[in-house]
Amino acid sequence: MRYDAPSPERWDHRGFDTGFGYVSARGAPLVGLLDPRPGERVLDLGCGTGVLTAEIARHGASVLGIDGSPAMIEKALARYPGLDFGIGDGHEFTVAQPYDAVFSNAALHWMSRDPGRVIDNVRAALVPGGRFVAELGGAGNCAELTAAMSTAWREYGLREPSLPWYFPTPAEYAARLEKAGFVVRLLEYFDRPTPLDECPGGASDWVRMFAGSVLEGLPPEIVAPLLGRVDELAAPALRRETGWMADYVRLRFAAVRR
Ligand SMILES: C[S@@+](CC[C@H](N)C(=O)[O-])C[C@H]1O[C@@H](n2cnc3c(N)ncnc32)[C@H](O)[C@@H]1O
Repeated sequence: MRYDAPSPERWDHRGFDTGFGYVSARGAPLVGLLDPRPGERVLDLGCGTGVLTAEIARHGASVLGIDGSPAMIEKALARYPGLDFGIGDGHEFTVAQPYDAVFSNAALHWMSRDPGRVIDNVRAALVPGGRFVAELGGAGNCAELTAAMSTAWREYGLREPSLPWYFPTPAEYAARLEKAGFVVRLLEYFDRPTPLDECPGGASDWVRMFAGSVLEGLPPEIVAPLLGRVDELAAPALRRETGWMADYVRLRFAAVRR
């Protein structure tokens, strides 16, 4: 399934499930970088089903998970009834009392409408000296997958697909953080080829799961052949004997509010 289009909805606690457990599993080291301490107040932005929110809580921090998707928040509440979760859009949220840290895994690249505004909101949600620790897709993320999409779309006479993500370069994101009043203490930019265990059908499954919005409005009869062509085009770079790999590129950073 694809994520709900996030929206600045009222705090609400309804929703359902997703199956992207590997996203959280790969985010676990980021909790180490956050180094949450007992009694600290932490906000988990784009918390999804709350797996890493719970991991942060396990360190004794007091944590609130927010996500733009009611479905995610309902699942998180069902899974971790003792923790605090609520619906909130990265572009819109405000907090009543500032936090010691804002954490975010695999979510900031979805907040693509106005990334600068998201960073401003994070800054406003932090105490002076507060930490912003996050990982997101970086420039070149899924380049083979998206190139295959572009080619297939062109071959079918379709306009270039409008992709929903923001994948910044390290320089671009560091500049945004500094401009917003953060000191960047660590910034890593690295390849992370990732087995597409959840996508046995390969690139076409990935498009349906993660970029379903690009299929909206297409004539239904062309979707299967179009995605079949995406598979053909992406296979030389991404299909291994053991299965499909996604060409993920990550940006991981720790910044401190001045
Ligand atoms: C790949 S999931 C990561 C979830 C979680 N952080 C984890 O590591 O398991 C990305 C999450 O970002 C959320 N998201 C996307 N756009 C958002 C927005 N504008 N504001 C808040 N959350 C958003 C999605 O609903 C989804 O739950």
